[in-house]
Amino acid sequence: MRSVVAVCAIATVGLLAGCRQDMQDQPKFIPQRGTDFYADGRSARPQVENTVARGQLHDDAYFYTGLVNGKEGNAMPFPVTMQVLARGQERFNIFCTPCHSRVGNGAGMIVERGYRPAGNYHTARLMNAPLGHFFAVMTHGYGAMPEYASQVSPQDRWAIVAYIKALQLSQSAKPSDAPAGARIESLASIAESQGLPANFTNQWTLPPTAVYGTPNNQDNGIPPELPPSANGKYPAAQSAPAQPNASASTNKHASPNKQ
Ligand code: HEC
Repeated sequence: MRSVVAVCAIATVGLLAGCRQDMQDQPKFIPQRGTDFYADGRSARPQVENTVARGQLHDDAYFYTGLVNGKEGNAMPFPVTMQVLARGQERFNIFCTPCHSRVGNGAGMIVERGYRPAGNYHTARLMNAPLGHFFAVMTHGYGAMPEYASQVSPQDRWAIVAYIKALQLSQSAKPSDAPAGARIESLASIAESQGLPANFTNQWTLPPTAVYGTPNNQDNGIPPELPPSANGKYPAAQSAPAQPNASASTNKHASPNKQ
């Protein structure tokens, strides 16, 4: 009897040892591989119906889209404070100035190196564009401009919208816009007092390295600037804007776009 118990005990220990499982060998799903555990064979599970993942409850639709009933709205979803503007300025200088420049005239450093001229915020159309338009452009991209939704949070995109409005004001401000009693000095005299060159206050122009349009001489459906009469709507088919210099397709240093 004793020997039977001993044999059973040894067998049990042996069996248990056989059940040992190292953590690195535990059953798991490897990304992008199927499984026979679920009937549909997918190891990556779809979201459970009628549930919202944490952090994805986008119940304030305007904050996340800038749209009201499918149209670009013209309001900030939260109050604009100096703190919001400072954050907008910081994010704008990081993400937008490479193409749009610090003053938002579209002649940034990358454009100087040959990228398509970026939007100039000081045109009449963009001065009058609703706030939701700027939010939508950042969220979805626009023509040759990539989207920034993956890099700039909705909160920061709105802060940038507020800062763009401040930029627009700053570039077309009149002395009467300054608070009463504020000392108004011309940019030229500020430049002079700081030892900047005399041409500092001249209108910026793109240097000869800037190339308009794509090298294959087509504009690949990029929307041109709309006349105000178009009422914000693009016609179904666009013809490519005229190429300023036919040799632009072969010569990287084509003469500047004089449009
Ligand atoms: C890589 C370059 C690049 C960067 C960076 C960039 N943009 Fe643009 N953006 C463009 C170009 C190019 C256009 C003009 C689109 C076209 O003509 O294809 C444009 C156009 C625009 C317009 C005008 C849209 C219209 O209605 O005409 C707005 C507004 C704008 N960008 C905002 C921004 C903001 C805000 C940022 C920063 C978050 C930003 N862009 C970053 C290249 C850029």
